[in-house]
Amino acid sequence: MMKKNKWLDDGNAGQATRALHSGEMATDARENSPAMFVTSSFVFTSAAQAKAVFAEEESGNIYSRFTNPTVAAFEERLAALEGGERALATASGMAAIHAIFFSFLAAGDHLVVSRSVFGSTTNIATGILPRFGIQVDQVPLADPEAWRRAVRPNTRLFMVETPANPTLEMVDLAELAAIARGNNILLAVDNVFSTPCLQQPLKLGAHLVAHSGTKYLDGQGRVLGGAVVGSRSLLMGSLYPFLRNTGPTLSPFNAWVLLKGMETLPLRMDKHCENAEAVARYLESRPELAGAVRYPGLASHPQHELAKRQMRRFGGVVCLELGSRERAWAFIDRLRLATITANLGDSRTLVTHPATTTHGKLSEEARLAAGITQGLVRLSIGLEDSADILADLDQALVAL
Ligand SMILES: Cc1ncc(COP(=O)(O)O)c(C=O)c1O
Repeated sequence: MMKKNKWLDDGNAGQATRALHSGEMATDARENSPAMFVTSSFVFTSAAQAKAVFAEEESGNIYSRFTNPTVAAFEERLAALEGGERALATASGMAAIHAIFFSFLAAGDHLVVSRSVFGSTTNIATGILPRFGIQVDQVPLADPEAWRRAVRPNTRLFMVETPANPTLEMVDLAELAAIARGNNILLAVDNVFSTPCLQQPLKLGAHLVAHSGTKYLDGQGRVLGGAVVGSRSLLMGSLYPFLRNTGPTLSPFNAWVLLKGMETLPLRMDKHCENAEAVARYLESRPELAGAVRYPGLASHPQHELAKRQMRRFGGVVCLELGSRERAWAFIDRLRLATITANLGDSRTLVTHPATTTHGKLSEEARLAAGITQGLVRLSIGLEDSADILADLDQALVAL
């Protein structure tokens, strides 16, 4: 294997160049597009070499649960985009978040997690971790005092999502990182909604970034995947042994799809943002939706100033608060271009009713505490012509 591109060596390449060229390797066949190593194990030329590679006296691949060249290329590309030393790939976003919890927490430790996070993250934190003797507190994402008050001598980890799914609530990452670092606590940030093109949590002081590659990194709704990004010492010291032994491994095929998807990530994110900005402005201009539109790029978003400071643009997700489940469902069912599905970050416009799908397993009380009402509709704005997206929304609003 040889490194194909020398341009990145000085570390000054821009995001679009990194997205295309980081992690590029070529075999002796001199292929241009990255090769896909669909193999479960790797061969040795002798028993002595097998022993040497297992004993880490010689570098090399052993088994695809440990390392795989296609997966390694994906990891290198994501680390380059996030500005992290290292990334480790996982089978899904939830595998990444689960791995963070189980690699950095032990019985007797305390985790503080924001109330507004993806439903499965809440379910692991409140339903699974306590069974292993881990104490968990949930706090309002945007309130730094609540994070300060939650700190105990045994607090080891803060876990947040910003902007959060689906409330689009945000936290000041630099401020939260300062609280975490002042108390010897690790800060992990789920960066799915922003992607490294819009926000780089490690540069703001976070220790770990979690990704669901299933969303914008793939960008076309094809494969599941995930990753954790951070320093080499944190990842290789704690996370790698957990992943290698427990096996939530990213398949080389999925890694290849993600690698190709990421080539257009910067371009796609700009178009997602442009279309979402147009949608948010249009919806806010409708008198019947006064106060109902949530988007970090709108001046009416309570944390718009923070969004301007912390994010390059405001992302592809726009939410509507329609007041009741009946109105939310009526609106969703009338959409003709947008498809009803539980995913987001696809090239196509998608619509979801979080209270009965992605966050459906939470109790009504937990849902409301997280700000997810029955009237909330999540729109993941795609790459279609913005005029078509607006026309679809316009005709569906008749339902209200
Ligand atoms: C913010 C966020 N984090 C994590 C996940 C989980 O990702 P995956 O479905 O790849 O496990 C999702 C999925 O919707 C998500 O929206």
